[in-house]
Amino acid sequence: MISQDTAALIGAQINRELYSGYFYLGLSAQAEIANLKGAASWFMAKHSEEMAHAMKMYRYLLDQDAPLRLETIAAPPPESGSVLQMFEATLAHEREVTSAINDLVDHALSEKDHATGIFLHWFVTEQIEEEATVNDILGRLRLFGEKSEGLLMIDNELGQKAKQMAQSAAVDSAAGAG
Ligand code: FEO
Repeated sequence: MISQDTAALIGAQINRELYSGYFYLGLSAQAEIANLKGAASWFMAKHSEEMAHAMKMYRYLLDQDAPLRLETIAAPPPESGSVLQMFEATLAHEREVTSAINDLVDHALSEKDHATGIFLHWFVTEQIEEEATVNDILGRLRLFGEKSEGLLMIDNELGQKAKQMAQSAAVDSAAGAG
């Protein structure tokens, strides 16, 4: 059993993860409208990842027999600008999520709630990987530019990455690690 405070904070994080899914769904639509099919697939794969993150926390609360209150999910920004701006917004967003996860870990430690601390380790590691991946994409966008051949090459790479993300999510899901 976890504390009411911890349950409420994890509930708030479920909302953040669902918002993240919504945020990436919005970016996927914007990329597709801009004819960036690879980027659209990448953002859609991120959408699926975020929904899986929310469901991990949802399952944790229920397994801990904790209260679960679902709140309203905010609308994502309707316009994010160029593909570079989309990935800059992505990095800023993921940094906020990292900070929220760190606050959750601090809270769990302050309550000596080891079960929640261990549960959150996966998210701490995931955030390192997410930020590194977006930083890498941003670096390539800045290096190769946002126009013509450079953009086409990066868009193709993002399409390939999206396929890998979908395969890895299928493996995790089959292993029950989703
Ligand atoms: Fe669930 Fe991208 O953090």
